[in-house]
Amino acid sequence: MSAIRLSPSGKLVEGKPGETVLETLENAGYALQNNCRAGACGECKVKVLDGEFDQGMVLDMALSQEERAQGYGLMCMCKPLSDELEIDWGTDDAKPKLFPPRENVRCVVVDRIERTPRIAEIRLRPVGEAIRFWPGQYVSLSDTQKTITPRSYSIANAPRPDGEIVLQITRVPDGATSNWVHDNATPGSMINLSGPYGTFIGDPGTDSPVLCLAAGTGLAPIMGLTDAALRRGFKQPVHLLFSARTEADVYCKGMMELWNVRHRRFKFIPTLTQEEKEGFQQGRIPELLPKQYPDLSKHALYIAGSPEFVDDCIKAAKALGAQDEMIHTEGFFDQSAPVVPTADQLVSA
Ligand code: FES
Repeated sequence: MSAIRLSPSGKLVEGKPGETVLETLENAGYALQNNCRAGACGECKVKVLDGEFDQGMVLDMALSQEERAQGYGLMCMCKPLSDELEIDWGTDDAKPKLFPPRENVRCVVVDRIERTPRIAEIRLRPVGEAIRFWPGQYVSLSDTQKTITPRSYSIANAPRPDGEIVLQITRVPDGATSNWVHDNATPGSMINLSGPYGTFIGDPGTDSPVLCLAAGTGLAPIMGLTDAALRRGFKQPVHLLFSARTEADVYCKGMMELWNVRHRRFKFIPTLTQEEKEGFQQGRIPELLPKQYPDLSKHALYIAGSPEFVDDCIKAAKALGAQDEMIHTEGFFDQSAPVVPTADQLVSA
């Protein structure tokens, strides 16, 4: 059995016999960028600082002789030979690189579900190559004729091999794009997506309890992040507090229940702000936090919803000891332009 030591954090990740470094890191909840998983693309290239390893068969164009001589390896094919392998991949460096956004990717609506009277969920599959994204990111949506203003919507699922993208869209009374989606996007319709955008993604270095706070369709990016974390076997408790006006606005109950019964560390806690109902908490999340989570100093927080909701939650969380660097937020501004990642945040070519 061998272990991977992450430098400079010094963290040690135990591996199982026969695993590649990529598999070991993923099993421990770390997201190392990768694409082909077969030594052909070079995306999982990392410098090995100490220890012996078997690189396996990889293409020269993915890992040049010069890079090999400098100690680089492709982690998707790399198997440790020594008891410990130290790689240059500390907590900060471990943040996943982002995928370059693509423009006007043509997609087909393959399904549509009315989640609430105001929220429609559409499921899209790209006609060509899948859009690569990290859970928690968002895309910009427009019609293929480009008659409506593009608007940003968070992706509500973790990446899937078939490239499906799930969007949950609230009908905003004077919102041309949301009204267009509600009135026109039915199975078989074509839609253009651009993206992915945003940096509201999971921190692979997180090794602490996670508290997610969501209101309305702020649930979408939180679902993407939670789906990914639970699937990769994240070991710490994940609690999701969801604020809705009435019971009818609590959506995706089926998925929440599945996660509840399947993952004993996951807990879904809906709260209603405009209705009293048996079995539900009542009140706004910022006011509920002190009683339920009196000490947030060790929690990682993921907060998504309207800017006011996000601000109020940040204030309440900080008053309970939450640390700035552990608070990740996504506030929806109706008119905001997509946040395009900077060059150094992108996957290198
Ligand atoms: S993922 Fe493509 S080379 Fe490792």
